[in-house]
Amino acid sequence: KPRTRYVGNRLKNHLNQRVRTLLSDIGNAGDSLGVEVFVVGGFVRDLMLERPIEDVDVVVEGDGITFARYFASMHHCRLHQHLKFNTAVIIFEDGFKVDVASARLEYYATPAALPVVENSSIKMDLARRDFTINTLAISLNTETFGTLIDYFGGGRDIKDKIIRIIHNLSFIEDPTRIFRAIKFSNRFGFRIGKVTANLIANALSVGAVKHLSGLRVLSELKQIFGEDNPLPALETMADYGLDKVIHHELKLTDATCALFESVGKTLAWHDLLYSDDVYPRWAVYFMAWLHGYTVKVSTQIADRLMFPLKERELLLEQRIKAEQSIRLIEKSYPVSNQQMYWWLIYFKTESLLFMLALTKNESVRKGISHFYTHQRKIQPLIGGKEIKSVGIKPGPVYSRILNKIIDEKLDGKLNTMEQEIEFARHYAIENNLI
Ligand code: CTP
Repeated sequence: KPRTRYVGNRLKNHLNQRVRTLLSDIGNAGDSLGVEVFVVGGFVRDLMLERPIEDVDVVVEGDGITFARYFASMHHCRLHQHLKFNTAVIIFEDGFKVDVASARLEYYATPAALPVVENSSIKMDLARRDFTINTLAISLNTETFGTLIDYFGGGRDIKDKIIRIIHNLSFIEDPTRIFRAIKFSNRFGFRIGKVTANLIANALSVGAVKHLSGLRVLSELKQIFGEDNPLPALETMADYGLDKVIHHELKLTDATCALFESVGKTLAWHDLLYSDDVYPRWAVYFMAWLHGYTVKVSTQIADRLMFPLKERELLLEQRIKAEQSIRLIEKSYPVSNQQMYWWLIYFKTESLLFMLALTKNESVRKGISHFYTHQRKIQPLIGGKEIKSVGIKPGPVYSRILNKIIDEKLDGKLNTMEQEIEFARHYAIENNLI
């Protein structure tokens, strides 16, 4: 029997109107079809932790696909069906998504004259999950709306701030859960339970992670490095020797820890001022993680993690260029606006942030943030059409002229199109182009 308690007030207080309406609409649809429906997993966990809610995951005791079809037609949503897995995604007009899964009802006859018993399939669905904190469900049907259902002690573990598996083979069945345990532990400030920690060590000792595909490890690492402050997670990974499993030369040093802290400060600065400039957060930490390793080792790590081509370029080429450039800038500082601009303009945001975190030279840091804030977006107002109108024959000289215009603008000159056209004309005359 599960522990139950009413959390309807929490739903009322913590969720916005839209999600509240959504939950009762889901419950109503369940009533109409005569099936039990629950919201489960991360949603309930985050609700109990009073953290922002992200995904809505629904489990239907019965056929999830039929349910999703019915709901989608009632509420004019689109539908993605995965018939093989009996799951569906309901997609609202504005892109908001609800995942629907099926928990099959199973009937079995008990001995003697007892009636056929309906097995609680929601329990079996929850039992397959990774940690107790992810096994909570809330009933959405009208009569039981808001009843929290706790089969595995998830409520208590949330209170006690502890990550615990549900069964002993959990990490063997799915070794990515080792990374997930570390991610959740870091995100929520929970400790990993003793038995759970021993089972992680045990799974590692029998080579569970060694045999994981690079793609799966990479996906977990990206999530860990995408969190607010991944340093404690990196330390836990090192405690378990997980880094060594990825590459035997990986070693968490004080320098890496310091660099991670510096990245944290840099990203906080950036995100506060430029919240609309999005970049892959994990990538900055990834570059910091691999800082100091040779091209050979970095390449082996990229191979092991099956990095896709584009990200591989970022991690290997951009990172190494960033490291070289920052040393060059530090050596040459102070430099002209133009020098700084042409050194930095080809770097992506994540690489610039990595460089900012890397330098210990305060003036250089100021110089780079000045570039980022004031110079990076500088563009000529004119284009090929205007240059042509001056009478210059199209060719590579066009980009030379446009670059010269940028050089001028970096010093605060050439503020209008007319001035830029005039500049192009002068340039053409001086260089005998017209
Ligand atoms: N799950 C699992 N084993 C995994 C991945 C997921 O048991 N290797 C289960 C978890 O119980 C989780 C559910 O599947 O609650 C959904 O997975 P996911 O969306 O990845 O997890 P969330 O808990 O929502 O995590 P996050 O907040 O990081 O999205």
